[in-house]
Amino acid sequence: MSPVTEQTHRVALRVNGGHYEIDVPARRLLSDALRADLGLTGTHVGCEHGVCGACTVLVDGRPMRSCLMFAVSAQGLEITTVEGLTEADDRMSPVQQAFQDCHGLQCGFCTPGFLTTITAGLEDNPEPTREEAREMIAGNLCRCTGYQNIVESVLRAAQITRERAAPEPLVEAERSDDSPLVEAERSDDSPLVEAERSDDSPLVEAERSDDSPLAEAERSDDRDPGSRSQPRSSAAPRAADEAESGEGA
Ligand code: FES
Ligand code: FES
Repeated sequence: MSPVTEQTHRVALRVNGGHYEIDVPARRLLSDALRADLGLTGTHVGCEHGVCGACTVLVDGRPMRSCLMFAVSAQGLEITTVEGLTEADDRMSPVQQAFQDCHGLQCGFCTPGFLTTITAGLEDNPEPTREEAREMIAGNLCRCTGYQNIVESVLRAAQITRERAAPEPLVEAERSDDSPLVEAERSDDSPLVEAERSDDSPLVEAERSDDSPLAEAERSDDRDPGSRSQPRSSAAPRAADEAESGEGA
């Protein structure tokens, strides 16, 4: 009697931005295909019947139990596993960073499912309350942490997401063509340009005036050195002339 061979099907999967084609039996679970066929073992399998949430991946951005989905059903869909959560510059995602900051894991078995679930949850609700954070993770089981630090991680992840989205004020001001500084330099009507150009500006007026401190300073170069620090009064020259001629004796 010949052994029974299982018919396989070619499936094209898009996972974490990559394109894969695999031959799988129709009953192959997506979780098994990810782990065994693609080697993406970050997706964990706990209960295998949709209770624990450890196998959660994002399918077209929505959290999905990969143990409840056949691989052939994922044809043409965009799948993101925990390995695909890191940012383009290899930084940890806000949720990953928050779990590190808040010690949101112990053994780590449940963590991939929490990370994907919270990533999708914060897309829907970017500023959850503590109660909403609890609801966000209510479908995932953790046997280690007692959940407190995972709730903290949700709130921290929301904060990190906001921080990363906010422009840096100074860098933004320098970079922006619309910034007040760039606008002032560019504008013919800016106060700086106007001051340089105007005949009535205080600077031009000061240069032109005989009574201005600048003109006075230029004129004083003709005097003897002692007169610069102590200007002579109107009576002083006469007294000096008289002393030289002997008229005052
Ligand atoms: S392994 Fe999928 S829900 Fe538990
Ligand atoms: S950290 Fe161990 S099961 Fe959640």
